[in-house]
Amino acid sequence: MKILITGASSGIGKEIARKAASRYDEMVIAGRNSERLEELRSELTEKYGIKVSVFAADLSIQENCIRLFEENKDVHLLVNNAGFGDVGAFDKTSLNKDTQMIQTNIIAMHTLMKLYLGEMKKRGSGHILNTASMAGFFPGPLMSTYYATKAYVVSISEAVREELRREGSEVTVSILCPGPVSTGFGKAANVDFHFEGFSRTPQKIASYALKKLPSFYIIPGIEIKAARFLSHILPASFSAKVIYNIQNNKN
Ligand SMILES: NC(=O)c1ccc[n+]([C@@H]2O[C@H](COP(=O)([O-])OP(=O)(O)OC[C@H]3O[C@@H](n4cnc5c(N)ncnc54)[C@H](OP(=O)(O)O)[C@@H]3O)[C@@H](O)[C@H]2O)c1
Repeated sequence: MKILITGASSGIGKEIARKAASRYDEMVIAGRNSERLEELRSELTEKYGIKVSVFAADLSIQENCIRLFEENKDVHLLVNNAGFGDVGAFDKTSLNKDTQMIQTNIIAMHTLMKLYLGEMKKRGSGHILNTASMAGFFPGPLMSTYYATKAYVVSISEAVREELRREGSEVTVSILCPGPVSTGFGKAANVDFHFEGFSRTPQKIASYALKKLPSFYIIPGIEIKAARFLSHILPASFSAKVIYNIQNNKN
């Protein structure tokens, strides 16, 4: 059994790799930072005797996603996790960073999901875990592009889940929707979260995600589940006001 994890050089992806290593025979870990990926490869090979391959490439470039798939078609669990955010008013954030974010959080996620779903359906089995976020439930003033990218992940995953259900497919899609997690995310997004006592560790998120698979919604924490519920009953204009205040408390 083979698992592929994107965004495995850090944070949630790295911890999923550590927690999943004892359950799989083979693992592919992807990200741009080859040094960190090699370190993780050595750690996991030594500790668990698992075969680990490193795929060091920028997944915001679609050809790299296609190459990753072509070289590793026989994957049973795809953890589609690479992503990042950026904080600031829409007209103040960098267009280049927004584009990179859309290419990573949406296009790379979409490309890998599409390619692997087709392959898994041919084979008649497989699971895809897309890392969305609580951000995918709301409009996100002062982090608007990031929230919108995660709304895409939630929406397309819901739609594909229904297609699979109608077909009676054995292939499953899940979404992981955490709230704040203490990872490299804050640094990449230029934000210091003031969420002491509220943010979770990537170790906890990883354990929870693997325990809950293949459930569709994987939402760690009662408060995040409550937030999802509220997102269905509150008008988007009201949610946007609340999220603005939350985002405004970060720097
Ligand atoms: N931390 C949170 O509060 C939080 C909450 C909800 C959802 N999430 C989501 O969780 C996922 C993982 O984030 P994290 O919190 O673990 O942050 P992180 O520690 O910064 O990890 C992000 C991972 O994504 C990879 N990545 C980013 N851009 C990439 C690119 N262009 N090509 C290939 N790999 C790329 C990074 O690898 P390289 O740097 O090596 O490229 C890294 O391994 C993201 O999708 C994020 O949106 C995070």
